Amino acid sequence: MEQTQLIQTKGPFEAKVSFNKPLRKCFHRLGLQFTGAGAEAFAKTRPGQFAQFDISTVALPSPEAIPEELRDVASKQILLRRPFSFARVAKEKAGTIVEVVYCVLGPATLRLTTLAKGQSLNVIGPLGNGFSIPQGKKKAVLVAGGMGSPPLEHLAQTLTTEAPGLDAIAFAGAKTKDDLPFEKLLDKISQELGFWLGEFAKYSISSFVATDDGSAGFKGLVSNCLLDWLKQDNIIPADIIIYACGPKAMLASIAKVAADKRIDCFVSMEEMMACGIGLCQSCAVKCKSSAGETYKLCCKDGPVFDSRDIVF
Ligand code: FES
Repeated sequence: MEQTQLIQTKGPFEAKVSFNKPLRKCFHRLGLQFTGAGAEAFAKTRPGQFAQFDISTVALPSPEAIPEELRDVASKQILLRRPFSFARVAKEKAGTIVEVVYCVLGPATLRLTTLAKGQSLNVIGPLGNGFSIPQGKKKAVLVAGGMGSPPLEHLAQTLTTEAPGLDAIAFAGAKTKDDLPFEKLLDKISQELGFWLGEFAKYSISSFVATDDGSAGFKGLVSNCLLDWLKQDNIIPADIIIYACGPKAMLASIAKVAADKRIDCFVSMEEMMACGIGLCQSCAVKCKSSAGETYKLCCKDGPVFDSRDIVF
């Protein structure tokens, strides 16, 4: 019964590609248009939710367009669907447009680069539980590590419409400047004004950048950059809510910062997901429970969790 319901409300849906453009380095932005029941389902998407794409029939690029480091694995069959979060969701006349940012890292994302305007992609979603809008808070702090920024960009969009009085600030960290999944870092004047990242600046959200090697912004971990910012005198922990998405080690650091400062914090966990709908048990997340420890499913119970509930 549960599975039948899921199929009715979560697809699978056929989406049409509305654009697929390279941003810079390995990063691309894909726009998908949903109509009919798919448009209705995706119009209700919450930031932090995700969808499973069927990439099994998507073509490979021509041999000369395959990066050298992927030549050995490029022709691997993609049997399982792949999960993607959303960077922006917009209800338009022609349907619901869902935007996804991806990085070409393996055979599945390599195939995504060949999707052209008008082509179809089979999608199940939206899945999982996303970020909720805070009540009684004055400042939302969005912290992204590596490819964790798209759902926070979607959260920025949602806060603008659903909590316009709430102040927000974004932190984005990566190993180097080239690993930041944004179209570009804005010009020097914007940077001096605290608006490094156009993806957040368009929602009037200022941003800090941290890189491990110091090639842009703060030199060091994004959690340390956040910690520095929290040292300001005018910060009142009870007024703040932190939303974080990124690699597990980074989320563990952010959760510790939040716990030490007694700040509410929600994290979006990244786990390997095979089915995405709670059937295969491949995405277990170790959580605290009244009996000690328990496992929850990232795809069904998450991917967003209260950071206090996770055993890092
Ligand atoms: Fe299969 Fe979560 S991905 S149970």
